[in-house]
Amino acid sequence: MGAVALRRVGILGTGSAVPSRVLTNRDLERMVDTTDEWIVQRTGIRERRIVDEGKTTSDLAAEAAEKALAAAEVSPREIDLVLVATASPDHLVPPTSCRVQAKIGASRSAAFDVGAACSGFLTALATGSRFVSTGGAERVLVIGAECLSRITDYTDRTSCILFGDGAGATVLAPLERAPRGEILETRLGADGTGYEFIWIPSGGAARPASAETVAAKEHFLRLRGREVFKFAVSRMVELIEGTLAPYDPSEVGIVIPHQVNLRILDAALERLDLPRDRLEVTIDRYGNTSAASIPVALDEAVRAGRVVPGKLVLLVAFGAGLTWGSALIRW
Ligand code: UT7
Repeated sequence: MGAVALRRVGILGTGSAVPSRVLTNRDLERMVDTTDEWIVQRTGIRERRIVDEGKTTSDLAAEAAEKALAAAEVSPREIDLVLVATASPDHLVPPTSCRVQAKIGASRSAAFDVGAACSGFLTALATGSRFVSTGGAERVLVIGAECLSRITDYTDRTSCILFGDGAGATVLAPLERAPRGEILETRLGADGTGYEFIWIPSGGAARPASAETVAAKEHFLRLRGREVFKFAVSRMVELIEGTLAPYDPSEVGIVIPHQVNLRILDAALERLDLPRDRLEVTIDRYGNTSAASIPVALDEAVRAGRVVPGKLVLLVAFGAGLTWGSALIRW
């Protein structure tokens, strides 16, 4: 019995979509007891995008997917698998990926959702790349999409200032078809002892929705910001140091972290030997968009020419679960 020969996997195209409606810090000042100064100093966020009524996660996902397909010059019928990473699915059942599959006409594909919160996109990327590397799929659409505004309590100033909506997508294929970026490695991890650090207490099987849970606003995201902050800084440093250990820092073209808090990103960078201009930042404009933040930032960096051919692209995420992950790509 021989080992299965694994194929090298590349990124064929990227796309992203954010709603046009802007929610500024000044707008939030009128909704909760907060100030623009506090939000900017503590998080780096100036504004975020909020989806229009009548639109939902699958709409943003489909728009991002169509742009990624166009960039990849792939037709929806050539897609074998649609993966959607989201913490704000259209419905608990069925998977949002099925709605996206129908919306974009990827009629030959399988579809499933990946639930790993802010680490969701990298978890889906790790999954999709293994389908391609083992020959289980030729072209995989990997999407991170969120309408966090739908699960945010806009009376809670400690959380509502953070979140925004958006979606980003990539098309994966065997490397010979995808000259843009080779996925060199992915890493994933979890520590479920932090299960209640970021969560939606009710609406699942443990505590089904009822008049009481809705009255107590338990269907909205809750977080223990300070605990998450400490975890995020140390995990980000460990992930970046561990992933980049075999490489010379001059090989690193760009680091695209989950956009959680500018202070977290700066604190991590301070402990690493990386110049500030290598860090891709979108949090000022989009806030924290959970599973969407990395693929949106990647797409914007690619389209703006900030992803340099031949250099390394490092993606790194952490979030609810607790979960974390990284992906190293040679562009
Ligand atoms: O993607 C994963 C999910 N994201 C996260 O879990 C976020 C990670 N955590 C963070 O980004 C930060 O911890 C926050 C931005 C959430 C909070 O920043 P902080 O520097 O950790 O502030 P804090 O929670 O220690 O609060 C400091 C003070 C408190 O007042 P007292 O107790 O010192 O009087 C808060 O009540 O700031 C107060 N505060 C606010 N004041 C004005 C909390 N939220 C606000 C607000 N506006 N929006």
